[in-house]
Amino acid sequence: MATIRTETQGRVAIIRLDRPQALNALNRAVAEEIAEAAEGFDRDPDIGCIVVTGSDKAFAAGADIKEMQPAEFRDMIRENWFATWDRFTAIRIPTIAAVNGYALGGGCELAMMCDIILAGDKARFGQPEIRLGVMPGMGGTQRLTRLVGRSKAMELCLTGRMMDAAEAERSGLVARVFPAADLEAEAIAMAAEIAERSRLVTMMLKETVHRADEVSLSEGMRFERRLFHAMFALEDQKEGMAAYIEKREPRFRRD
Ligand code: CAA
Repeated sequence: MATIRTETQGRVAIIRLDRPQALNALNRAVAEEIAEAAEGFDRDPDIGCIVVTGSDKAFAAGADIKEMQPAEFRDMIRENWFATWDRFTAIRIPTIAAVNGYALGGGCELAMMCDIILAGDKARFGQPEIRLGVMPGMGGTQRLTRLVGRSKAMELCLTGRMMDAAEAERSGLVARVFPAADLEAEAIAMAAEIAERSRLVTMMLKETVHRADEVSLSEGMRFERRLFHAMFALEDQKEGMAAYIEKREPRFRRD
């Protein structure tokens, strides 16, 4: 792996962006390597949650401007530029972005592709593409709008300004903020807790919450109810509820 480093801690996988010379800018190699690593962890029953992180200075400072600058419309269409990221959003186990430093442009968009965003108190978020003569292209206009609302998403995308971690938390982009030095340990601890639950139920829960972005309330409710019913075909429902009644810790299946 040339642009990322991966490791596992128990049932948690960590994908660390590692292009310090470019503030972890996301080129095509990064997209391919993240997709491949995440797909491997998704298939591995010994892994229950993925943490995506960067460095203290940058989670990722955006898509790689130097790679994109000479590209023509023909290249964009032929390669379906950024479509590789669809492989990451198709990952079924939960994903957590742990953001220290800059999460700009594609960096902010990668964080938003994750299921939970945790931030260090020095993190900075923004969609500065407008300043480059383009707009977000890795989901920013859609996911940011759903997360923070239209007015704030418009303001951020049209001005390209950065917001700090406190504002990002207030506006609903970020789930929780930690002191920068504690962020990684906190993210891994949260991931470890999630990874202890029923792997299949966390997958079904993730899919159901993401349905909320796609369908009407009544269709979403219907989808939720049907998958809730389906959970009663899993041993994990019997075990989880029995453990509660018997006042002991549940032992969920891992496969
Ligand atoms: N692409 C390519 N290289 C980048 C980069 C990016 N997105 N961001 C930073 N770098 C490079 C810089 O060019 C610089 O390289 P050189 O040493 O060769 O000049 C190196 O990383 C270090 O960066 P700086 O010297 O600029 O560091 P700084 O601390 O002074 O500034 C920064 C930090 C404010 C984040 C600044 O680097 C910056 O503004 N970066 C670009 C942010 C941006 O516009 N992102 C959006 C990209 S477009 C996009 O993402 C489209 C999309 O929707 C997917």
